[in-house]
Amino acid sequence: MRKPVIAGNWKMHMTCAQARDWMAAFLPLISDTPDDRHLVVAPPFTAISTLSDLSRGSKLELSSQNVHWEGEGAFTGEISPSMLQEHGVTYAIVGHSEPRKYFSESDEQINHRARSAQSHGLIPIVCVGESDEQRTRGEAERVIRRQVEQGLEGLDPATLVVAYEPIWAIGTGKTCEASEANRICGLIRSWVGSPDLIIQYGGSVKPANIDQLMAMSDIDGVLVGGASLDPESFGRIANYQTT
Ligand code: PGA
Repeated sequence: MRKPVIAGNWKMHMTCAQARDWMAAFLPLISDTPDDRHLVVAPPFTAISTLSDLSRGSKLELSSQNVHWEGEGAFTGEISPSMLQEHGVTYAIVGHSEPRKYFSESDEQINHRARSAQSHGLIPIVCVGESDEQRTRGEAERVIRRQVEQGLEGLDPATLVVAYEPIWAIGTGKTCEASEANRICGLIRSWVGSPDLIIQYGGSVKPANIDQLMAMSDIDGVLVGGASLDPESFGRIANYQTT
């Protein structure tokens, strides 16, 4: 049984004060959420400590938006696994299309980050996905396969989440058709060769499409950007229903 992972990625949003307000509104919305799913939020580093205190005893788990492959050292702007674990963080997003695009993160770097996360007991959420141009040129599957083969090399699928996020669907309101997202997630599962691998879909997930996405056989959760900033919207997504 694959337990779905519903994760919110706040990106570069939310001060500590805003995060406190968000938690006050969100926690009551998940008090009756069934235990058949993981609920995760990835705040900016500065709000992790606040959320760690406020989420204690709740169903909400924490993710970072990045993690470095070294334990410590001269890596300005980076964060180590133990710094995150000190605050009870259990997941780490790596390979999101934004650092891939803005900071030219390579599959090799992403793989180093993910391996480091796993070896320290964090669950990496490794993002993959094609651009609009790559899809139009018919290259989507080849691009995603390369990202999967290089980015996931040597990782243990039992403590791993893969997020299929087509870049053209991120922040655009253009959700990938549920059946197409499901097809790609199924392909990723077959390439990795692990029936138990957790595979999320991400890209314009909203209250209006969550139930349809979660009803798909190969979609085991979602990675949510914009809609996770609003506690009501993310509450509805967390409380998805497939029946
Ligand atoms: P979006 O972002 O939900 O705002 O499209 C998804 C993501 O970047 O993970």
